[in-house]
Amino acid sequence: MACENALQQLLARSICFSANRLRDAMEYGLLNGGKRLRGSLVLAAARMVTGDTVDNNQALRTAAAIECLHAYSLIHDDLPAMDNANTRRGKPSCHKVFGEATAILAGDALQTMAFDILADSKTHDDATIRVQLIGQLAKSSGLEGMAGGQMLDLEAEGRSFGLVETKEMQMMKTGALITCAVLSGGIVAGANSSLLSAQASFAKNLGLAFQIADDLLDYKGDATLLGKPAGQDALRGKAGFVALMGHQGAAVEAKRLIDDANMILEPWKRSAEYMQSLAKFAIIRKT
Ligand code: IPE
Ligand code: IPE
Ligand code: MG
Ligand code: MG
Ligand code: MG
Repeated sequence: MACENALQQLLARSICFSANRLRDAMEYGLLNGGKRLRGSLVLAAARMVTGDTVDNNQALRTAAAIECLHAYSLIHDDLPAMDNANTRRGKPSCHKVFGEATAILAGDALQTMAFDILADSKTHDDATIRVQLIGQLAKSSGLEGMAGGQMLDLEAEGRSFGLVETKEMQMMKTGALITCAVLSGGIVAGANSSLLSAQASFAKNLGLAFQIADDLLDYKGDATLLGKPAGQDALRGKAGFVALMGHQGAAVEAKRLIDDANMILEPWKRSAEYMQSLAKFAIIRKT
């Protein structure tokens, strides 16, 4: 797939002989069979603007940046101090192979690699667009986004979260980066403000539905299929819609969110079809 090739090339170009071990750990965490949903969302959002089916280099670089940031979040999420998960994407987690210290550094370096990709003029010749992409990724992954959400997720292990708090936590830990992927695709391709605002509303629903689906997969508990531990949320007392609404209620809610999301993009007709198919995939996926 195009996004996979872009990631491979970007990592290959950043070979640094003094830190081969770090590079290997980054490669292990990045090029290991993720679904590339976030990267695909970038491309789908860009295609809504350009109408192309062939992805241009700018959209691909943007997709690669978001996938680097996501890979970092997974490496750190699996660490003993966080979810203490021994498998990821069907293989031992990064820290299980390279040790905790190297896994922490691999996450750090993948995070900065994301911003390095976006800051390069190959991503967009207009510096204002590049700054917009960088600012958005920084906000989505920091205190008000993924990292803040991960903090709330850990806090939820020690006390019970209501629906409002749970929703806020999910929107931050997962929704923010998903929204960032959709908006970045729109921005890099030059979307107008009405499309960007529709994409933002679409992505808000998708982000929440995606994490509900993740929680449902954890609840259903097929670790072999998932390629990561299952049944962990209940075990660790994580907050989630499954715990609050039951698995059937959570599934109904995820479907409602996706139906509403796809309605928002209806006015864009055929150019929205790829994006709408990704939204449907987000809740029917088995991994
Ligand atoms: C898993 O994300 C982590 C969450 C944010 C819930 P994905 O299910 O998209 O993981 P990969 O990239 O396909 O492995
Ligand atoms: C992780 O959520 C969200 C991130 C920001 C990485 P989970 O902890 O539920 O993700 P999995 O189930 O381990 O992939
Ligand atoms: Mg977690
Ligand atoms: Mg986890
Ligand atoms: Mg999970």
